[in-house]
Amino acid sequence: MIWTLVPQAQNTFISNTENRTFTNLNGKWNYVLDPYMTGGMGGRAIMDNYEPTDKTGRVEYGFTPDRTLYVPGGWNTQKPELAYFEAAIWYRKTFDKPDFDASKRYFVYIGAANQTATVTFNGKELGKHEGGYTPFSFEVTDLIKKQDNFLIIGVNNQRDASDIPAKVHDWYNHGGITRDVRLIEVPKNFINNYFLSLDRESLNKKTKTIKGKLELAGNSLPENAQILIPELQIEQNIAVKPKGATAFEVTVKNLKLWSPDSPKLYDIIIKAGDDEIRDQIGFRTVETKGKEILLNGEPIFLKGICLHDENPLRKDRGNSIEDAQLLLGWAQELGCNFIRLAHYPHQEKLVRLADKLGILLWEELPLYWGIQWENPEVLKKAKEQYTELIYRDYNRASSIVWSIANETAPIPSRNEFLSEMADHVRSLDPTRLISAAIKKDQELDGHPDSVYTYNDPLIEKLDILSINEYLGWYGGLPDQCRTKSFTSGFEKPIIISEFGGGALQGFHGDKLTRWSEEFQAYLYEESIAMFDKIDGMVGMTPWILVDFMSPLRQLPGVQDGWNRKGLISEKGVKKKAFYVLKDYYSKK
Ligand code: GCU
Repeated sequence: MIWTLVPQAQNTFISNTENRTFTNLNGKWNYVLDPYMTGGMGGRAIMDNYEPTDKTGRVEYGFTPDRTLYVPGGWNTQKPELAYFEAAIWYRKTFDKPDFDASKRYFVYIGAANQTATVTFNGKELGKHEGGYTPFSFEVTDLIKKQDNFLIIGVNNQRDASDIPAKVHDWYNHGGITRDVRLIEVPKNFINNYFLSLDRESLNKKTKTIKGKLELAGNSLPENAQILIPELQIEQNIAVKPKGATAFEVTVKNLKLWSPDSPKLYDIIIKAGDDEIRDQIGFRTVETKGKEILLNGEPIFLKGICLHDENPLRKDRGNSIEDAQLLLGWAQELGCNFIRLAHYPHQEKLVRLADKLGILLWEELPLYWGIQWENPEVLKKAKEQYTELIYRDYNRASSIVWSIANETAPIPSRNEFLSEMADHVRSLDPTRLISAAIKKDQELDGHPDSVYTYNDPLIEKLDILSINEYLGWYGGLPDQCRTKSFTSGFEKPIIISEFGGGALQGFHGDKLTRWSEEFQAYLYEESIAMFDKIDGMVGMTPWILVDFMSPLRQLPGVQDGWNRKGLISEKGVKKKAFYVLKDYYSKK
């Protein structure tokens, strides 16, 4: 059985592949269905790319020209017969590499493949990757040829209880190779990752300190590396540690800080031996002080919205700069300076665009409904996947919050699991804030209590208390909102990480007619009034910017496979509530 959990060959994390030498392997790929995840039939493995050589030959699969899928892209919306296909599909890309250079190393980089991927090259299995939303790479230096290379990747979008996310979630399980595939070319010794951030201690000093860490890969590392920030006349030598990461500091004068109002990015060049990488990085600090969130030392109100990484117009995962521009453009029209990227790591292009546009981000891992908290294997996966996310987005000024869970009941195994996750994330990145989307002690939406309380023990581990509350939709009606108040035993800033209700765009009625735009607008007016009076409420991310695909939503003529809580319809048409929130943010 190909899909059994064998120890993963080490996938190498290579950051910032956008700015490296690479061969783009996107486009049409051939595919073979593997509904029972056997990986082949009758002793012929699909990864062998076998074709009979004479009339007696036998094979029971084929990568034929008429069977193609686009990469990147979810397979479900490319073929009607694959709409709800949850099993495995093998993708094949053949390519020549006439300019193959024996003095270099070659890695196959995959931006994301949902959910589990088996990567094979020229008939050799390179390794597996679990997690549908983070990047991974495998080396092919010893296998690559000038001609007739075949890259065959098996992707399985099934999830079970021991997966992250687990079996049931309120979003469409776009399966397949959902982000870019590249053949990366690097020198024998290369820069595989670097981490730069502004030291909080130096924030109010004239000369500020940038803290850095450099990770090189290879068998004969250079003794020195250099970091250059031309605009600041910085050209600094770094003495490379022979093993592990090298920490360094750069002191800078006249550093312009990154913020939503002025999203200043600096061109950064890092050189090490034969390798050189360029990036654009902004410098800012984020912290909490009592019930405030301070950006660059100043209190900030987070005018946010939740978002799925899906372009509804194309009914597919976001995978291009155009998809990112569409979604972030809508959020800017709403007057947002903050977006909660729910419930999994979104595409890197969107995060980098947020850096440019000055939009702050909340990122999370899908530790969501039904996680097997008591299973140590799941904790290991969660740490691995969060590490991949932090390695990918550590240098993004826009990203300010790591969230470790969404709507998970406070049982002991969960508390332990998430407490370890908070420590893990904080150990990798002490420069950002940690949170989780929490439900009230009373749990039930519409609970009759007039005071909603928050004493989930996990809050102790978090920097921000984030609340999901659906009073007026899943319980009660909007007219109860103004009767409620909120209290928690914690002196922490509060973000309303979800609230909202559904509306079918174009359906109109009085304000108590469910699914009408008027009901949704009324719910927003009353919810905003309820939350706005909470002491320490420093931001909100209503659920959700735009309608999104979900198998859980099957009300005919209204939902038809779409969650309708968007403020914008799947066709890009704004609903009345959009303007209620826009108006509130324009006054904030
Ligand atoms: C939940 C959940 C979302 C879901 C939303 C809804 O709170 O976090 O993933 O889509 O509510 O019910 O629409």
